[in-house]
Amino acid sequence: MPINFHQIKNFIRHWLTATRKGHNVHSPFVYKLCEEIFYNNSAFYDFEQLEEIRSALKKNKTILNIEDFGAGSKTMPQKRRSVTEIAKSGISTQKQSQIIYKLINFFYAGTIIELGTSLGLNTLYLAMANKKARLYSIEGSRELFDFSSQLINEAKVKNVTLMNGKFDDELPVLLNQINKVDVFYVDGNHTYESTLQYFRSALPKRTNDSVFIFDDIYWSHGMTRAWHEIKNDAHVTLSIDAFYFGMIFFKQEVKEKVHLKILI
Ligand SMILES: C[S@@+](CC[C@H](N)C(=O)[O-])C[C@H]1O[C@@H](n2cnc3c(N)ncnc32)[C@H](O)[C@@H]1O
Repeated sequence: MPINFHQIKNFIRHWLTATRKGHNVHSPFVYKLCEEIFYNNSAFYDFEQLEEIRSALKKNKTILNIEDFGAGSKTMPQKRRSVTEIAKSGISTQKQSQIIYKLINFFYAGTIIELGTSLGLNTLYLAMANKKARLYSIEGSRELFDFSSQLINEAKVKNVTLMNGKFDDELPVLLNQINKVDVFYVDGNHTYESTLQYFRSALPKRTNDSVFIFDDIYWSHGMTRAWHEIKNDAHVTLSIDAFYFGMIFFKQEVKEKVHLKILI
C-alpha cells in the first residue's frame, strides 16, 4: 500500500500506464515471463507450508531489538518490534514472494543473493524455489539474524547461508567468493547511493541470464532516481517495473532496450 505522496503519485501513474495481463507485449521473452511468472495463478506445492509459516509469524508476539542499519522504516521507526508487526508490514507480501519464487523456479537460478533477511520468510521462498540453488542472505541486525536462522532450521531448508553484518562489509567478501550471481535481490538500505553501490558491486558477477531485483523503487525520490539510473545502465537490456519492485535483465538477445511497466 502506498503511504507517502511520492508513492501515491507514482502508484496512480503506474496504474494508468502499466500493461495489464501481458497485453501489448511484443517481446516473446517478456510474454513468456508474463505467462509463467507474473500472471501465472498456479499454486506451487511449497506455498501451503510457506503461507502457514507467514500466518504463524503474524501471530508471534516475540519482541526483537533491532538496530537500524539502513534508510529506516516508514511504518515502524521504533527499535523494539514484535514479530507480528514485522510480518504484517515489514516484509514482502505473499504476492511478491510468490512471484519471486516462480521466477527462480522458472529460471532454475543457481546462485542467489538476498540483501535483507529480516524474519527469513522471503529467504525461505527464494531457497525452496530451487532446492539445488545456493542462497546467501545478509542481515545486519543480530536478533533478526538469530530469529531467521531458527526459522530456516525449523523448516529444514538446507541450501541457505545466512550472514550477519552490514551489506557494505559482507557483500564485497561474498562476491569475491562466488563466480556468478543468477538472482540478486536487494531489499534493504533503501537509499540512492547504497542501491547504486550494490548494483555496481554485483554487476561484474552477472551472466547473460541473471536477474537483479530492487525492492521499493518508489519508496522515496532517491530510490526512484536510483531505479532510473539502474534501468538505463548500458549493460541492461530489459527492465520490468512492477511498482513494488523493479527487475532488470542483461540478455544480449534483446537487441533493442525494452522498459516495461506491468500491473501485478
Ligand atoms: C525490508 S527488510 C527485508 C525483508 C525481507 N527481504 C522479506 O521480504 O522478508 C530489510 C532488512 O534489511 C536489513 N538492513 C537494512 N540495511 C542494512 C544494512 N546496511 N546492512 C545490513 N542489513 C541491513 C534490516 O535490518 C531489515 O531486516
